[in-house]
Amino acid sequence: MSVNTERFFEEVITVKWGPEKKSVDIIDQTLLPGTVKRIQLTTKEEIWEAIKKLRVRGAPAIGVCAAYGLAVCAARIAQEEYDDFYREFQATREYLASSRPTAVNLFWALNRMEACVRLHAEEPVEIIKDLLYAEATLIRDEDVAISRGIGEIGVSLLKETRREGRPVGILTHCNAGTLATAKYGTATAPVYMALEQGWRPEEMHVYCDETRPLLQGARLTSFELHRAGVPVTVQCDNMASVLMRQGKIDIIFTGCDRVAKCGDAANKIGTATLAILAKHYNIPFYICAPSSTIDPDTPAGKDIPIEMRDPEEITSMWYEDRMVEEGIDVFNPAFDVTDASLITGIITEKGLFHAPYDFTGIHG
Ligand code: MRU
Repeated sequence: MSVNTERFFEEVITVKWGPEKKSVDIIDQTLLPGTVKRIQLTTKEEIWEAIKKLRVRGAPAIGVCAAYGLAVCAARIAQEEYDDFYREFQATREYLASSRPTAVNLFWALNRMEACVRLHAEEPVEIIKDLLYAEATLIRDEDVAISRGIGEIGVSLLKETRREGRPVGILTHCNAGTLATAKYGTATAPVYMALEQGWRPEEMHVYCDETRPLLQGARLTSFELHRAGVPVTVQCDNMASVLMRQGKIDIIFTGCDRVAKCGDAANKIGTATLAILAKHYNIPFYICAPSSTIDPDTPAGKDIPIEMRDPEEITSMWYEDRMVEEGIDVFNPAFDVTDASLITGIITEKGLFHAPYDFTGIHG
């Protein structure tokens, strides 16, 4: 891996413990790329607000942050009797679960923390608090290994698309990178793994969709890949088809917030449009996701709750002057659903899945 990439991974740790594990330490992603600032989250309200406002975002990172936050809050619960402790723990868990509705990893991580408490119900509360810190750390460490597994499958797909004399053109949407996970990202993992396997950075070129309205592609993905030394280009979302038509895109990797049982996948708004374009131009379209993103309790895409966000993100957030006249209705869903039939494959750490999707045993 290049010196730049190594340095980048040392600099950018999305979520970590604060001093003496009394807080959660995150990079405030709302300030990127201009300002790299770490903030400490101590109370449940601060953790909830950081997730809601996308200071920390991306499905796996939200899960890690919520698990760390729940451990920090549980450590402060004064009750020594298990039942009293459990009641307060549950109230905090439910509160954090209300921060964002679509990424299933949030609920998955919080449920794992709850299972840890219940499993050790016979232990003294002080021991349970230590076990919660250990469980949260494990969730984070597992995420690093999961990304590597996704990346290794992704590199084999990159090898298949490699052509003599020009870089492999990779298109991605939103940020499913380091900033959205514990280390390698999901959609970016194939790129980082390729570097680790000795590819030269110039053998790849990543095209980052700007990703309206919150600009995660422009502000975050291009930032992290550029810092890691990977050649990148940013284009507005509505320019992706031009790149495809020009033959610059060999493969598309995106992340995902929830995969339904039938393989329909919810990801950042604009992903479904890309998948439709990819089909037209015959470009392979892959979803990259940890197995925890596959939700056996959600039968199909129509059952995935889609977060609706503040109209202000479209009308005025990025502009000196308001760009939509007051009183005009605004539609701002944060995610869309890509039909399983449009997805070439779903890459998880447990393997590469194709339609018709059958995830039986994946959580076993
Ligand atoms: O609203 P965001 O920024 O949290 O949306 C993030 C995405 O849509 C990512 O693609 C997804 O969470 C996967 S991150 C590995």
